[in-house]
Amino acid sequence: MKVTIFGSGYVGLVTGACLAETGNHVVCVDIDADKIERLNAGEIPIYEPGLESVVQRGRESGRLKFTTDIQEAVSHGLFQFIAVGTPPDEDGSADLSHVLAVAKSIGETMTDYRIVVDKSTVPVGTASLVQKEIQAALEKRGTELEFDVVSNPEFLKEGAAVDDFMKPDRVVIGTDNPRTAELLRSLYEPYNRNHDRLIVMDVRSAELTKYAANAMLATKISFMNELANLAERMGADIDQVRIGIGSDPRIGYHFIYPGCGYGGSCFPKDVKALAASADQQGFPATLLKAVEQVNQRQKQVLANKISSYFDGDLQDKTVALWGLAFKPNTDDMREAPAVVLMEALLEAGATVCAFDPEAIEECKKNHMGDRVDYVDAPMDALKGADALILVTEWNEFRRPDFDRIKASLKQPVVFDGRNIYSRKTLEKLGFDYYAIGM
Ligand SMILES: NC(=O)c1ccc[n+]([C@@H]2O[C@H](COP(=O)([O-])OP(=O)(O)OC[C@H]3O[C@@H](n4cnc5c(N)ncnc54)[C@H](O)[C@@H]3O)[C@@H](O)[C@H]2O)c1
Repeated sequence: MKVTIFGSGYVGLVTGACLAETGNHVVCVDIDADKIERLNAGEIPIYEPGLESVVQRGRESGRLKFTTDIQEAVSHGLFQFIAVGTPPDEDGSADLSHVLAVAKSIGETMTDYRIVVDKSTVPVGTASLVQKEIQAALEKRGTELEFDVVSNPEFLKEGAAVDDFMKPDRVVIGTDNPRTAELLRSLYEPYNRNHDRLIVMDVRSAELTKYAANAMLATKISFMNELANLAERMGADIDQVRIGIGSDPRIGYHFIYPGCGYGGSCFPKDVKALAASADQQGFPATLLKAVEQVNQRQKQVLANKISSYFDGDLQDKTVALWGLAFKPNTDDMREAPAVVLMEALLEAGATVCAFDPEAIEECKKNHMGDRVDYVDAPMDALKGADALILVTEWNEFRRPDFDRIKASLKQPVVFDGRNIYSRKTLEKLGFDYYAIGM
């Protein structure tokens, strides 16, 4: 099948590459000429495990192409996927300008029936805005053409995106048109083999399903972080509480890890966007706003612990920071807790020496510039540092050489923002150890 994907970011690139992998002919179009140039040179602009080889196979087979040419893109695919960004506006609501710009381009250029598939995360009612935008552009041209607008929210997780696309838990299709649903069923058929994962529903419910999923997951995290802060004050150990409640199958073990806050390109913006939609409906979403507030507060927890350990005086202190990405296995730093922490440490006069296996370039380019120091290996961050802070639980940080760490640090203190180390072990080795909720 012929597929066009607007937007070659985390979602668009993975979707395009994975659809080409199963035999479809895919054209990926992006307005970022530099990104397209890099992709055409065989470079992958993001870090995503397994993606490079899928993109390479697609390019070599001739089934995966990258362009900035909108005309070429719109004339190529029966399916026109929209996978562009929907960042938060000033009031937290989703900025739909990129989505609507794509709709306009499609309306201005299409010459045949098209199925426009919205994969970006968008508020309820966006499909009908997309429909109106395309219709208006067609009318301006004095052209009448049939088209459908479908909602197909994406549930992939950065860090496991290729696997999630190839073996999805579910594929949600929002459409009232059975023929369009069948065409999408056949596009997704290779990923739907051992049992039916396709869930077809009305468009508005599909749009809300994506926000509902992210809001539920963010709520679990903020709930656990709230409890962690309480546990700490009550002399309880949140990790034991986690095991205690996770054993109840109605609660389960997934997504109940306490930590230094959730980040990334989805949870923060989607919780805010859903809350903004609720406000627009005249039904303020008390719980969603609390989820967001708890998370904002949680991102300050490590800075507060560090500050109180050093009696509020971080001038002339150097801290070694392990982990910049908002979670392991990605270089994405959008809304990363590490950024909030680094800003607080710098503000207090500390020097930060940071290491991350994949996100250093991203940090330099889009977040902290040269206001912090970067090193090429985790141990290099520790030389002469006053403390070690762990923010992202990359596997390579899980079993470090604590004797070496102790010898490198000026004072043996570890602040563990993801509770990956054992208090017992570290205290036995002579460290002061601070974690979340214990
Ligand atoms: N990143 C995730 O894990 C994830 C998961 C599920 C859903 N989503 C949703 O998918 C959407 C895309 O997210 P992302 O993380 O891939 O974003 P991204 O910022 O990585 O990529 C978006 C791309 O769209 C391009 N673009 C913007 N306007 C364009 C236009 N008019 N025509 C063509 N290209 C254009 C940008 O240049 C950029 O390359 C968002 O709505 C997001 O909420 C993201």
